[in-house]
Amino acid sequence: MSEKELRLNDLKQECINCHKCVLGNTRNNTVFSDGSCDAKIMLIGEAPGADEDATGTPFVGRAGKLLTKLMEETGLSRENDIYITNTVKCRPPENRVPSDEEKKLCENFLLKQIEIVKPKVIVLCGATSAKSFLGGKIKITRIRGKWYKLFGNIDATVILHPSFLLRKHSEEEGSERWLTKQDLLKIKEFISKV
Ligand code: URA
Repeated sequence: MSEKELRLNDLKQECINCHKCVLGNTRNNTVFSDGSCDAKIMLIGEAPGADEDATGTPFVGRAGKLLTKLMEETGLSRENDIYITNTVKCRPPENRVPSDEEKKLCENFLLKQIEIVKPKVIVLCGATSAKSFLGGKIKITRIRGKWYKLFGNIDATVILHPSFLLRKHSEEEGSERWLTKQDLLKIKEFISKV
């Protein structure tokens, strides 16, 4: 096992034992990460849903399947090119948005994941994830596709959340799904150069 894997395993174990916030009382499983810790892309979603809580793996439900499909259609491998996690590691009951307090109490896991994985680009997936890093007053449809610097030097960009895309079926040029594919293609192009 690599040094990175060992450190992430220790962190995951700490996460499994965590009861710092109320989400720890109702979870079935903590949902720590999926994909490769050597990936150049780290994708950060909102929070686990029912399927993720049942399996312990992020983005495996309907939204996750759509995200995987869009990634693979643009030539990104979910398994090799992306390390996937969420702003909080436990499912909020009824799939509500995680509170600021829950995100704050879980932040240490996410910050350590970033420190260990050292991604070349962070993809903020959806409004909750984008707000966590870019501040509260953002409109996701306005900032998707834009690029930022996080922590002074890590490139980051924003994509629409696949749960939102599940309600938008068109793949026509200019549609939300089409725009998301363009955003993923830019990310793919970016990692080919770093
Ligand atoms: N939505 C998210 O934001 N994350 C998941 O893991 C699943 C659905």
